[in-house]
Amino acid sequence: APGTWSPRPSMHFTARETWLNDPNGLVFHDGRWHLFFQNNPSGGDWGNLSWGHAVSDDLLSWTELPVAIEATPEEMVFSGSVVVDHHDTAGLAGPGHTALVAVYTSAYTEASPRAGIQAQSLAYSVDGGSTWQRYDHNPVLDIGSGEFRDPKVFWHGGADGWWVMVAVEATDRRVAIYSSPDLVAWTLESRFGPAHAVDGVWECPDLIPLRVEDTEEVRWVLVVSLNPGAIAGGSGTQYFVGDFDGRTFTPDTLVEDGRLEDFDWLDHGPDYYAGVTFSGAPDDRRVTMAWAGNWSYAAATPTAPWRSAMSLARDLRLVRCADGRLRVAQRPVLPPAGEVPPDTAVHQVRVPLGVGERHTLTLHADDPTCSDEVRITLDGSSRTLTCDRSGSSRTPFHPDFRGVFTAPLHGDGPVDLTVVVDGCVLELFTGDDLTTLTCLVFPDAPLTRLSTGERRP
Ligand code: FRU
Repeated sequence: APGTWSPRPSMHFTARETWLNDPNGLVFHDGRWHLFFQNNPSGGDWGNLSWGHAVSDDLLSWTELPVAIEATPEEMVFSGSVVVDHHDTAGLAGPGHTALVAVYTSAYTEASPRAGIQAQSLAYSVDGGSTWQRYDHNPVLDIGSGEFRDPKVFWHGGADGWWVMVAVEATDRRVAIYSSPDLVAWTLESRFGPAHAVDGVWECPDLIPLRVEDTEEVRWVLVVSLNPGAIAGGSGTQYFVGDFDGRTFTPDTLVEDGRLEDFDWLDHGPDYYAGVTFSGAPDDRRVTMAWAGNWSYAAATPTAPWRSAMSLARDLRLVRCADGRLRVAQRPVLPPAGEVPPDTAVHQVRVPLGVGERHTLTLHADDPTCSDEVRITLDGSSRTLTCDRSGSSRTPFHPDFRGVFTAPLHGDGPVDLTVVVDGCVLELFTGDDLTTLTCLVFPDAPLTRLSTGERRP
């Protein structure tokens, strides 16, 4: 009956009974996907930030493991990344072992002599990620700032290459780029920013090479989360396409005095934040995962004891569009047809969309006593996709939980739309992989039915 169903997703990761935010330390190792995440091990609110841990074989079904790196009274463990140190550059592995090294932000508390500082630290695992120890000489990179965080580390070049770290100087809206031979000693190489959307702090950067589809050309994509001030209000994720020589990122073009619509966004919904890619993904895949949340109202979302979910994983590509612009294309990792979990839906519909046409689809519950719904409208004149979630939860729980979001559609002609509804997470994807819209909904029953038109039958 309405009211008793819990909107806890099944294909989107949630912590069993606690709070989560950003994905951290995404790494594929020994045949398994590891997801670490910002977690409060002792409750459903942000606090005591530690790295929770979950593993998956298929990126859809997750097993939560014990907390990997726990907060101490002096140090919260903020966001960061994990690398596999195959050549033991940091000297942490010990004979016969390979070390996984986590590079995370130490957010020092009032109980620490470094109170208020954010600096980068290491932890390592020599048992494939099950147990973690802090490095003895933390932090490894301290610039005396209270707004320096979210290190994403990767190896650049071949055998004579080096480690690269991107991290934010959050309130300066800059990404700082460092190099290191051993993950311990870091040298500042360059900075990027402020640029494009800057009406908030910059957080959780990532820098990845992507081959331009159907060519041999490789470009680099710098991903920067922004909170608030993003395209759908509050938190969101922008990206820049350019070049990287191992030390400096150079964007292809920057828009001067642009509007938010002129910039590139990974998602046009309100609930897609802090997305970063997995290290070590097989088959040259670039797989990303984000927090399906928005800091504007994340603390108030009406679920308990768990709170917040991850997005689905997405495979990234880079495509040259008809207008000449390079855009990141994203394809979600979906279950095979017939293996969609109960109370969850994956709808794939072709919407014939000519100029001047509008098509509305309505998501609603199977249960006739539940009147919650979401309207999805495709407009052939403006070539836009609009999602209206204002009817999706009976109880308004926060004034900033806005209702209507619009994303551009690329190209012309029919649109193949994929609609994924899994508990409180709704994700829309177009078949050209160029438009994505993620938003949270809190209905009283699963919104697994999709009807054509403005009314449910
Ligand atoms: C992004 C963020 C990061 C920080 C973490 C703290 O959502 O604010 O900048 O490391 O969350 O939980």
